[in-house]
Amino acid sequence: MRIDDALFDGVDLHALALRVGTPCYAYSATAIRQRIRSLIGALGELDALVCYAVKANANLAILQWMAHAGFGADIVSAGEMQRALRAGIPASRIVFSGVGKSEDEIAQALAAGIARFNVESVDELHALQRLAAARDVIVNAAVRINPDVDANTHAKISTGKSENKFGVAIDEARQWFADSARLTHVRLDGLHVHIGSQMLSLNPIRAALQRTAAFWRELVAAGHAIRSIDVGGGLGVCYRAGHDHPVAIADYVGVIRRELAGFEGRILLEPGRWLVAEAGVLLTRVIRIKQGQERRFLIVDAAMNDLARPSLYDAWHDIVPLTREQRPTQAYDVVGPVCESSDIFARARELPTCEAGDLLKIMTTGAYGTSMASTFNSRPLAAEVVLDCGRYAVVRRRQSLDDLLMDERPARDWENV
Ligand code: LLP
Repeated sequence: MRIDDALFDGVDLHALALRVGTPCYAYSATAIRQRIRSLIGALGELDALVCYAVKANANLAILQWMAHAGFGADIVSAGEMQRALRAGIPASRIVFSGVGKSEDEIAQALAAGIARFNVESVDELHALQRLAAARDVIVNAAVRINPDVDANTHAKISTGKSENKFGVAIDEARQWFADSARLTHVRLDGLHVHIGSQMLSLNPIRAALQRTAAFWRELVAAGHAIRSIDVGGGLGVCYRAGHDHPVAIADYVGVIRRELAGFEGRILLEPGRWLVAEAGVLLTRVIRIKQGQERRFLIVDAAMNDLARPSLYDAWHDIVPLTREQRPTQAYDVVGPVCESSDIFARARELPTCEAGDLLKIMTTGAYGTSMASTFNSRPLAAEVVLDCGRYAVVRRRQSLDDLLMDERPARDWENV
């Protein structure tokens, strides 16, 4: 262990684990502030609005930092909208994406007065027109185009191929604009594109932007006003030190600048993972070691219900034991207590020899960790803390068993429909 492995944003993780227990998510405020600053710096004078993708990490404390930075939010549900509003993100900076917005959610977002809907199907477009007419408001909308570009990432987090459920083909979008005069209560004046997540190359991003830009120019030539282009999120981070090489933020913004040169409207960005992933660790304690028939298992107190990415996508997360002395390494399958064979954080991972009671950091878990957690096996949701230069604050207390069971009751109060 390097001396500073147990220190995270100035906080000793051994002491923290004793105070708040494990498993526990810890997020570094300093790291998130740095990301916010460098994104703002890279955008410079560009007329741009960053709409943080709430799904990456929806904790109110994190959303508040985004609000203070002047960022908006990209939401995919009414629940995410409520979180963003409660954290102080104004409705005028909220954009609503997703293929399955229900009429009730559309109505709630209209009532709140959000900035823009990213519309993903003709049926949704008609629903939006109808609901906006019913409220007698004119709503801004962008068409989410599916540019049929391979994001070169895991198939399960790829969204911009024609076989995916997201967005509509450019041919269909062209027709929407041709017919847009009929939309009395929808101002269709934006384009949106998001092709996938955890992208470690600029090539697919460039290709998607080139198609989007060609379409924007075509629409302008045809007399349509395009006031915003939303370039989505998708920027990758380092999950495996020495192996993953993320794109520099200045290079990413450089591609946006080049491909959208001459665009006079507002550019929206929807980063999620890049802002928060590397700022988070999942702290977990070794319960016991088990020598199986073929493999040696390191059984920890976090599980797939706390962090689903390895079981869902075979995702790699670096794991760092916080053992205090030098120890020889061994290969372990790092597993949780959940009753699923896929409850595995790492296979045959070379780690310093561990003992029951040791603490481990599962790295790069600030994004899509807690936001995808479940209570499978009646495991309460983990605590979340933020760290800031030697201090910590609990921003979600560990769920209690009473919380977990709160809404359940025996089948006693029968009613007829
Ligand atoms: N905008 C839209 C419309 C999206 O669908 C997403 C992510 C984002 C922005 C933010 O993308 P990011 O900057 O975070 O890559 N659970 C998966 C990731 C799913 C991403 C879904 N959409 C994972 O753990 O890898």
